[in-house]
Amino acid sequence: METALEALLNRLLEAERAGHALLDTLSRTTTESGLKSLFTSFTEVEVSDVSILEGLIRLHGGTPSTATGDFVQKVLQISDLQGQIDLLSRGQAWVARTVEQALDLQPPPDIAAFLKEMANRHRHNVEWARAEAIRTLEQ
Ligand SMILES: [Fe+2]
Repeated sequence: METALEALLNRLLEAERAGHALLDTLSRTTTESGLKSLFTSFTEVEVSDVSILEGLIRLHGGTPSTATGDFVQKVLQISDLQGQIDLLSRGQAWVARTVEQALDLQPPPDIAAFLKEMANRHRHNVEWARAEAIRTLEQ
């Protein structure tokens, strides 16, 4: 596997692993039911992204990173929910942009197909998180 592609896929893998840990924490600590279900549904998706990325990296001869990104601490350091959701939303946008960079490297078709789906889903999540935050915080 090309080194630059492996590096980007591993950054995405570490970010998804952090995303999972973070959403897992948020879904347990949030009492508002709408947000709780939002966080829980994101958590399930992050788990499957982690295992698919690991599998694709390995399948193409790379070595999946075992590290977790530092995103969890960054978000949990913020004391208000609005600020946390904003950062979460920016994290989703970062994933979408990083996926575009990986696609520019013209990865094999199976990796490209997964990355396109992943980018679209994360862009969708950005909007969903914003809308949900507005709805929740306006109540
Ligand atoms: Fe994610």
